[in-house]
Amino acid sequence: MQYQWYPGHMTKAKRMMQEDIKLIDLVIELVDARIPLSSRNPDIDQLGQNKFRMIILNKADLVSEKSNAAWSEYFKSKGYFVVQLDARNRSGMKQVNAVIEKACQEKFERDRKRGILNRPVRAMVVGIPNVGKSTFINSFAGKACTKTGNKPGVTKGKQWIRLNKNVELLDTPGILWPKFDDQQVGLRLALIGSMNDEVLNIHELSMELIGYVKVHYPGMLKERYGIEEEGTADEILTSIAEARKCIKKGNELDYDKAASLVLDEFRSGTLGKITLELPERNG
Ligand code: G4P
Repeated sequence: MQYQWYPGHMTKAKRMMQEDIKLIDLVIELVDARIPLSSRNPDIDQLGQNKFRMIILNKADLVSEKSNAAWSEYFKSKGYFVVQLDARNRSGMKQVNAVIEKACQEKFERDRKRGILNRPVRAMVVGIPNVGKSTFINSFAGKACTKTGNKPGVTKGKQWIRLNKNVELLDTPGILWPKFDDQQVGLRLALIGSMNDEVLNIHELSMELIGYVKVHYPGMLKERYGIEEEGTADEILTSIAEARKCIKKGNELDYDKAASLVLDEFRSGTLGKITLELPERNG
């Protein structure tokens, strides 16, 4: 996917978000469990003021339970409702439903006091590109639910998906813009594959990844590639190229191929369960 955000894109996304957010009670914000801070845009806190807030640690299957638990605690301590999820797996949606109900108890209570009965909670999914918003909406909505159609007067042109008698979900997610101004954030987004690899230096990126994994997950590279982990990231990449027979014409080692291989194996989770930021280091 293209991952270029110009000021124009950002302004448009922000304007759409401001409009849609008026219609809803609950913001369901998806983040990537491997980089829960770098995959957020904190502007949502201001846009989502006075709304019920839920964070979904999506792609939770790609990191360890320990990492998911640490981030859940972190976000809970900041007042969010939190769910860990693999959005491709529909069985996780029960838990999402349960948390939505909990998050909205206050709303039901408030409605009841005002004599309003049975008005469903309206929710909207938001997140930066590639965190799994469409996958989530497809899994969550499934086949069972019905589209409610346009609501005259209030939500012209908007489609709502009725999830159950209590919850309606806006069928198009709100797109948040990533925060590229911090170099570390840009690097982490590139590592998880949320930027167009064509404009990135794959070799440098793999060096960063190897250096990080060597320090924070000792033994993982050795285990996966059957190589020694001592030495610089460059030397480790050479060992991986040899171990995986990444060879070009003329019998030379193909470093680009080895670099892509390591990145691909990280992104798919084949290398192991790796979190690129943890609350104690980054929060
Ligand atoms: P977006 O709407 O936020 O832009 O994200 P989208 O749903 O398109 O998901 C982006 C990629 O992330 C997709 O992979 C999707 O399958 C994957 N994905 C979504 N949720 C999860 C999850 O919980 N765990 C894991 N491991 N992956 C998840 P893709 O390779 O771009 O597409 P596809 O090959 O799956 O079609």
